[in-house]
Amino acid sequence: MRVLRTRAEALAWRAGLPAEVRLGFVPTMGFLHEGHLSLMREARRRVGEGGVVAISIFVNPTQFGPTEDLDRYPRDEAGDLAKAEGVGVDVAFCPRHPEEIFPRSSRTWVEVEGLGDGLCGASRPGHFRGVCTVVAKLWGIVRPDLAVFGEKDYQQLAILRRMHADLELCGEVVGMPIVREADGLAMSSRNANLGPESRRDALAISRFIGLVKGRFAAGERSLAALVGDAEARLAPGRVDYVSLVDADTLEPIEVIEGPALCAVAAFFGGVRLIDNAVLSP
Ligand code: PAJ
Repeated sequence: MRVLRTRAEALAWRAGLPAEVRLGFVPTMGFLHEGHLSLMREARRRVGEGGVVAISIFVNPTQFGPTEDLDRYPRDEAGDLAKAEGVGVDVAFCPRHPEEIFPRSSRTWVEVEGLGDGLCGASRPGHFRGVCTVVAKLWGIVRPDLAVFGEKDYQQLAILRRMHADLELCGEVVGMPIVREADGLAMSSRNANLGPESRRDALAISRFIGLVKGRFAAGERSLAALVGDAEARLAPGRVDYVSLVDADTLEPIEVIEGPALCAVAAFFGGVRLIDNAVLSP
């Protein structure tokens, strides 16, 4: 597997790829787990024999707020490269310095209106601006035929689909389902920052999502019936938000009539976790 350290190296690698080679791309912030690896396997499957799979590992400072966990974000580059190679990744772009992606001369930000107002966008101001800008920059360097993202970050995926369409970016956006631990907790690099007690408490979030799915399957359609007891169910976790929104517009809804999303964010021992379920009548 080839490791690229600078923007110039990445551009030179891309320029040398023959036009007929299918290129799949998976952007990540590293500390790879099975959720990330499922996206890489899907990219591998889609580009087929003769295709190339590239990933990026870059903890993007512009998507962290001033009081967030940028300094505590877990890292293990050597482990990540071994895991990526194990699922058939050909190229890893791991910028040595943030300046490779955000040089001092950089002055352009990408912002998708509306879709980022609620859910994580409301509690993390500027977060999606940082995400969109870094993904647009990486897209411009890598110019993939397809890029794969997880539904674990449902709002991020919805925003990136919009950005991809609005900016007429090349290739296609592919979404993949949430990968969970054996006990149900959605896999996340941040799970590594949970102490043993918080790890046990954090199960409340996936249990709650399971409960909401069960209620929906049993015919419940109203906000109150589906998530009214969220605070109690998520305790001792501290709820950031529990929302029921239209699955396309991400606008809040009171009653489910078309495809909807139940999305939850909560803190366990100081670690912010998210989970969601799509509820389609
Ligand atoms: P990161 O959190 O590293 O996630 C990289 C990709 O893996 C995202 O598309 C995310 O949705 C997906 N992913 C994470 N956990 C998953 C799980 N349990 N199941 C399935 N997919 C999962 O998301 C980011 O990085 C960044 O915002 C990024 C897009 C790289 C821009 O910096």
